[in-house]
Amino acid sequence: MAQFFLSAYIAFAYSIIKKFDLTNFVFCIIFAIENRIITLKTYTTMLSERLHAAINEQINAELWSAYLYLSMSMDAEAKGYKGVANWFYVQWQEEQDHAHILMNYLNSRDAKVVLKPIAEVRTEWDSVQEMFRETLRHEKVVTSLINNLAAIAHEDRDFASSNMLVWFIDEQIEEESTARDMIFASEAVECDKYGMYQLDKELAARVYTPASPLATAE
Ligand SMILES: [Fe+2]
Ligand SMILES: [Fe+2]
Repeated sequence: MAQFFLSAYIAFAYSIIKKFDLTNFVFCIIFAIENRIITLKTYTTMLSERLHAAINEQINAELWSAYLYLSMSMDAEAKGYKGVANWFYVQWQEEQDHAHILMNYLNSRDAKVVLKPIAEVRTEWDSVQEMFRETLRHEKVVTSLINNLAAIAHEDRDFASSNMLVWFIDEQIEEESTARDMIFASEAVECDKYGMYQLDKELAARVYTPASPLATAE
């Protein structure tokens, strides 16, 4: 209600500045009720409602992925695998980049980013191998989500969105391939404590580099 009176007051002041007449005043009141007068933007996005909603969903999915990998990192740390913990920590950073790219994109298309709650994630894994197997399973799900987004953009003939999504399509090929490599490497040393120690040391060397769309955006 207070918001309405503030808007009405602004509308009234505006109508006086613009030379008072009743039509103008009524028009300003309607404008104020719609709350446009106190926002800077008065135009709306060219994205379709369903594509806008689907990209918002994807932002949530990327943040959930980040949370999942952070949870794996913490579990690995708790079990003494510092290198594995580092590997998943970098993965956590990468997933946040993915969300960041999509948020930048929505903002650039005048579409509001709506953040939703991030669902709970698993916190315990029986082995490092199981973590990597779950990583691959999860990345395949993400690939299908990205494919679905690309299909909507294609149906909408939204070429800018299609173009933006090409980076994500390529990224998913890499994500799945890396997860497969990690399954292979970790299963190769499954019952070998020294092998696991060596692999852990190797994974400690993984370094985070910002995703290319963010590097070029800054
Ligand atoms: Fe991602
Ligand atoms: Fe990913």
